[in-house]
Amino acid sequence: MKGIILAGGAGSRLYPLTLVASKQLQPVYDKPMVYFPLTTLLENGIHEICLISTPHDLPRFEQLLGDGKSWGVSIEYREQVKPAGIAQAFLIAETFIGADAVALILGDNIFYGGDGFQRAFGGFRSGAIVFGYHVHDPERYGVVEFDTQGRVVSIEEKPCRPKSNYAVPGLYLFDNQIVEITKALRPSARGELEITDVNLTYLQRGQLQVQLLGRGFAWLDAGTSSSLHDASAYVQTIERRQGVKIGCPEEAAFRQGFISLAEFEALAGRMPNCEYRTYLTSIVDELKRLPAAKHEESVK
Ligand code: G1P
Repeated sequence: MKGIILAGGAGSRLYPLTLVASKQLQPVYDKPMVYFPLTTLLENGIHEICLISTPHDLPRFEQLLGDGKSWGVSIEYREQVKPAGIAQAFLIAETFIGADAVALILGDNIFYGGDGFQRAFGGFRSGAIVFGYHVHDPERYGVVEFDTQGRVVSIEEKPCRPKSNYAVPGLYLFDNQIVEITKALRPSARGELEITDVNLTYLQRGQLQVQLLGRGFAWLDAGTSSSLHDASAYVQTIERRQGVKIGCPEEAAFRQGFISLAEFEALAGRMPNCEYRTYLTSIVDELKRLPAAKHEESVK
């Protein structure tokens, strides 16, 4: 499976922060926002990635992430010249997707905890898998409608009267039908190729699974000044308490075996003296001291 990170949009809700740096480059506590969705892909074994952004912002992402080689992955870049909806990503990345399945993650979605994603990525065979997450303000999202048996009967995009509290987060797994399905889509009333319409097509074909993410799972949104601040505070709280970082691509690449311990150590060695480097170095030290720590991680 390949991975797409969609990091487009004007970020107008974060103005004036977004005057010179796009939303997905803003700091979430100690890292640029895009590190978080990137890490989610890496943690789930995805090593061929395509990042899509505006022609204006794309060079900044390339500067930040490069070609991915030092993390043992490949990162390609594609321009979204005119924003025309999330599903447009599959048209832009058609040649990147080729004959593969694909996971799309939105560049401003931050996930942490649980093993829901691991199970979904690990168990994915065909069709589509999306997730359902209980929120207090479902009207801001795609919302899942269930029948009395708990079966999914529909998904509505930003409904005025949501039929449940289960929002669909910005991570979607699709098989290779995705390109053909997107090509057949018509733009919505707001002129966009809606991801919700893609999901509805899979639902009509009887090929959509909605996996509910439980309580031990955090999905944070960082699209407004307050939610950006909350996300930073959350990341800081967990990191300070546990001494582990959330959204650290180097660590994910290492734990996935994309790079060796020696390569990981070398990566840290090339960083300036900073807290981030100290963290990576502490992982190396811990592993050398306590090989069981690595074992514990891998059986988690
Ligand atoms: C988009 C999708 C929506 C989804 C949300 C997740 O909304 O259209 O279905 O629930 O992402 O973040 P938007 O980012 O356009 O508000």
